[in-house]
Amino acid sequence: MTVTTNEHSTIIQHGDATAEIYHYGATVTSFKYKNRDVLFCSKKAILNGTKAIRGGIPVVFPQFGPQGPLPQHGFARVSKWHYLGVLTENTHQTTVGFSLEKHQALEQQTKIWPFLFRLEYHVTLSANTLHLKLVVKNLDQSAFDFTVLLHTYLQTQIHEAQVFGLQGLAINDGVSKTRDVDNRSYITVEGEVDRVYEHVGLNALTLKDRQSTVLLKNGFKDVVVWNPWIEKAKALNDFEDEEYKNMICIEVGNVSEKIVLNPGESWTGEQTIVAV
Ligand code: BG6
Repeated sequence: MTVTTNEHSTIIQHGDATAEIYHYGATVTSFKYKNRDVLFCSKKAILNGTKAIRGGIPVVFPQFGPQGPLPQHGFARVSKWHYLGVLTENTHQTTVGFSLEKHQALEQQTKIWPFLFRLEYHVTLSANTLHLKLVVKNLDQSAFDFTVLLHTYLQTQIHEAQVFGLQGLAINDGVSKTRDVDNRSYITVEGEVDRVYEHVGLNALTLKDRQSTVLLKNGFKDVVVWNPWIEKAKALNDFEDEEYKNMICIEVGNVSEKIVLNPGESWTGEQTIVAV
C-alpha cells in the first residue's frame, strides 16, 4: 500500500487497485483494478483547474444542473479542495480525505450561495472496491438547501451496456422533457440519454458489458443516467467525438428534491463501486 501526493493529485495503490484523485474538485479521475480502467476520463479532459474535469467522478454541489442561481453543477467540482492526508491505512483498506469550506471555494459562486459549510470527502480503496463518502455540514447560523451528485463516468462499450436496478421507476427525461416510467428490466443506450430516475429504492445497480461493475449507494435517492451521443459529443470541446461509445454516466445523487440542513446538521451520502 502506498499513497503518493503532489500539489495536483494523490495516488493510492492498495493491492491490485489504484486510484488517482485530483485536488481540483476532489475529482477521482481513475480507479483501476488489475489494470482494468473502471472509470472513464476523456483524453481531452482539462486537468489544469480551469474547467470541471470531463470524466472520473466530479462532485456536484450545491446545485445540480443549470436550474438555480449558480452555473451548471455548482462550485465543488471547480474548487481546489484541501487534502487531509491518509486517514486509514491497513491491510484491508486505505482511505484518504479531502475537505472544502466556503473560504476555499470558488468566490464567484460563494458570493451567490453565501452559506458557511464544510464538505468532507473520504476515498477508500480495498481489494476490488472504491468507496466514497461525502459529508455535508452546515456551519452557518441559517438553514441552507442543496442538491448533490457524484457524477460518475464509467468505462463501457456503450453498444453492449446494460444497466440493471432501475425498473419501474419514475423518470424525468431531460431529452424529451417529459415525465414517464421506465419499465424495462434493464436499460440500454441507443441515442442521447439524460434521465433522472427518482427515488431509487434499490441500493445495488449493475452495469453489465464485457465486464461488470456494481454500484452501491447509501443516502442518495436518485440516479442520473447520461450519455451525450453523437451530436452533443461533437459540441463538447473537452470530449472526443467518438468517446460517447466508451462511457456511460451513472450518477448517484439527491437532485429531484433539495436537502435542507439546519445550523449544525450534517448529511452523508456514500457510493461503493465494485469491479467484478
Ligand atoms: C449530467 C446532466 O449530470 O451532466 C446533463 O444530467 C449534463 O444534462 C451532463 O449535460 C454534463 O454536464 P457538464 O456540465 O459536465 O457538461
